[in-house]
Amino acid sequence: MEETNESASEDRSGSPAPSMYSFNASVDERLILREVYGRTLNSYNEMYFLPADNEEHRRLDLQHQIYTMILGALYPAIPLVRWALRPRRDRRPVILDVGTGSGSWAVDMAKEFPYCEVIGMDLVPPRIAGELPQNCRFEIDDANLGFFHYRGTFDVVHARAIAMGIKDYPALLKDLAQTLRPGGMIILGDGEMQLYDEERRPLSYSEADASWTQRVFFAGYNASKNKGGNIDCPTMNPTWLRSIDSLTDVGWDKVFIPIGPWIYANEREKVLAEMLRSNCLGYISGLEPLLMSEGYLKESVEKMQRGASAELLELKVRLYSRWSFAWAMKRL
Ligand SMILES: C[S@@+](CC[C@H](N)C(=O)[O-])C[C@H]1O[C@@H](n2cnc3c(N)ncnc32)[C@H](O)[C@@H]1O
Repeated sequence: MEETNESASEDRSGSPAPSMYSFNASVDERLILREVYGRTLNSYNEMYFLPADNEEHRRLDLQHQIYTMILGALYPAIPLVRWALRPRRDRRPVILDVGTGSGSWAVDMAKEFPYCEVIGMDLVPPRIAGELPQNCRFEIDDANLGFFHYRGTFDVVHARAIAMGIKDYPALLKDLAQTLRPGGMIILGDGEMQLYDEERRPLSYSEADASWTQRVFFAGYNASKNKGGNIDCPTMNPTWLRSIDSLTDVGWDKVFIPIGPWIYANEREKVLAEMLRSNCLGYISGLEPLLMSEGYLKESVEKMQRGASAELLELKVRLYSRWSFAWAMKRL
């Protein structure tokens, strides 16, 4: 059954290129970015309150390396993705990266698949170090406005860690399913905001002796929920994908990674745990605008940040974080 998306079409202008901007160096960043509590944020989306500055984009580059190291590739379900992106005689396969951030996944995909076209879209411009591959371009847009203009366009659609800025994640998935060509793939990746203890049991945040790390993660979780982000999507994605009639072959992989090298079996695991700790320290530092916009006092935020950073650096907490990958294929 073909889904309809009337509201998305109404929000759009009907123009053949209805993204807000096709990104190039001449775009005036003052229209796109704003200063909030000492960091630079996007100006369009009132839900997504993590920074959009160089410091955050460097964190996203590190997070991109973490995802790639976990998977041993840029994507899960390797045979399915390679089949979806196989070279064709009649046209170039097209890839969309929703919420591309610093743009590193889009650029790396453009390099791995030089015969494909890659579009990265985000609320903010990417941070491209080095030369942009000719088969890669960026658009500035809000995924909540819908993808009506891209129906039946893509062979792979990728969305990683964007839930904080998504108003209605199941609706977004339905919308993205419609942008796929038959045989195309949707790929979702997320690090959960839920923390796990050393036995890999989910931690409740109401415990009286909760660590600073638990407290600051919980504060971030609550604040994002208050803003309306669908941040529980990592555990819901397989169910939501299965509920879309036009999708099939739903898959789901979950991986636990220790935050900091308090446990590891080999050098690779140690490096991964250290990278994840650095990523978490950057994430915790970037929470300031989000928490302060929800009424936290600067002193309280800084106290949580200092406490959590010390715990993580001194390996005083034994925590796991869980990373989820879900995917599905559009019926032929
Ligand atoms: C945590 S970053 C992840 C970036 C990238 N996907 C990655 O995995 O490296 C989330 C990104 O999603 C973008 N984002 C959030 N909500 C969005 C929306 N509604 N439309 C477009 N981009 C969005 C943010 O601006 C940010 O760059």
